[in-house]
Amino acid sequence: MIEKGTEVAPANGKLGVLLVGLGAVSTTFVAGVEAIKRGMAAPVGSLTQMGTIRLGKRTDNRSPRIKDLVPLADLNDIVFGAWDIFHDNAFDAATNAGVLEKDLLNQVSEQLAGLKPMPAVFEQNYVKRLHGENVKTGKNKMELAEQLIDDIARFKAENNCERLVMVWAASTEIFLEESEVHATIESFEKALYDSDPAIAPSMIYAYAAMKSGVPFANGAPNLSVDIPALTKLAEQNRVPICGKDFKTGQTLMKTIIAPGLKSRMLGLDGWYSTNILGNRDGEVLDDPENFKTKEESKLSVLEHILQPEVHPDLYDNFSHVVRINYYPPRGDNKEGWDAIDIFGWLGYKMQIKIDFMCRDSILAAPLALDLALFMDLAQRAGMRGIQEWLSFYFKAPQTAPGLYPEHDIFIQLMKLKNTLRHMAGEDLITHLGLEYYD
Ligand SMILES: NC(=O)c1ccc[n+]([C@@H]2O[C@H](COP(=O)([O-])OP(=O)(O)OC[C@H]3O[C@@H](n4cnc5c(N)ncnc54)[C@H](O)[C@@H]3O)[C@@H](O)[C@H]2O)c1
Repeated sequence: MIEKGTEVAPANGKLGVLLVGLGAVSTTFVAGVEAIKRGMAAPVGSLTQMGTIRLGKRTDNRSPRIKDLVPLADLNDIVFGAWDIFHDNAFDAATNAGVLEKDLLNQVSEQLAGLKPMPAVFEQNYVKRLHGENVKTGKNKMELAEQLIDDIARFKAENNCERLVMVWAASTEIFLEESEVHATIESFEKALYDSDPAIAPSMIYAYAAMKSGVPFANGAPNLSVDIPALTKLAEQNRVPICGKDFKTGQTLMKTIIAPGLKSRMLGLDGWYSTNILGNRDGEVLDDPENFKTKEESKLSVLEHILQPEVHPDLYDNFSHVVRINYYPPRGDNKEGWDAIDIFGWLGYKMQIKIDFMCRDSILAAPLALDLALFMDLAQRAGMRGIQEWLSFYFKAPQTAPGLYPEHDIFIQLMKLKNTLRHMAGEDLITHLGLEYYD
């Protein structure tokens, strides 16, 4: 909890953004920031760069940019670091990912080529489809965590950074369920020494971040920092954390449309979602164990928005199916189809079809930027532990134990903006508006 109008430390000096995984999302993020800094493009899709926030009454006409309300790090003060299991620098990785045009990449080639990934903590068992050479070795998982802690300290010193944030944009790991090992800091640390299989590489990065006081945002659906041991460590070390799984593409559409259907009390018989995707993420998700992690993250959204237990006449037993098919010719340009079977007045049936020809990493890159900047802000504002106000960015928002996640994108945005108003000492906006008619 922070007080209204809390003192937020200014964003002085350099902010190091440590990316786990230097693939399609990360390189699109880094190249985009470099292009935006040079005025080659606008930061479209980024709330921190383009979003405004209404303050006070509607008649006050006060709608500053978010970045003018709260002290966010400037793009010119960002320094990137990364880990990846492949040796490719960010220029080669971006070229391989095939998201951005050669022409744009060539104009920022110097910055990209200078970003070389540090050796990763990786184990084949968690991402079976990938085989990389740029991988750390150690006698147990605790030793690997210590190597990451050293990497973090070295990066900070060498790049003269005031502050750091870490964003997980590496491959989705196999499905793991929370167990005893994840219950306490002690059981987790013992398991690190024992190299317990319940500790996935992403948890080792998250642990290293918590020990180093570095905020951690999880862009993939793996558990990572979403276990009691690490949320406790985050609280204890006063570090903000958030996740899971960037909300782009099909789930973005779902959390825009479902609240609209529910607001009109229209019923749902079924929602069938399928995708074709041809990038490395699609290849990893082609493995059933990795897809299971993604599926869990994608499926929970509708249940929470529609609340079948509150509206059994409208939403009891609707069928919800999500598929992802690896189809190389499309690369990063995912096509997602939704067939939505709804019903209205007197039970009459209707259908909605969506064909979203999106670009996965173009949608994800601005989310990675916003998360890095907001997590840094949160830390300077003295916020720690789970940052539920950043649910806006995630398919499976991390929440306090026992609290159901808020998936409705409009509620998520209101929550985010009200948090910023609260931080800046402004009145919250309830949209009641009766005072205009007094
Ligand atoms: N693009 C989107 O719209 C989107 C949306 C939601 C979530 N995500 C998630 O974001 C992640 C990144 O997506 P992407 O399209 O960039 O994938 P990608 O396959 O292009 O990049 C992932 C990179 O992570 C590396 N990697 C794997 N395990 C690692 C480890 N333990 N340590 C360091 N590096 C490791 C891989 O070598 C690869 O270069 C995926 O988990 C994906 O599911 C993406």
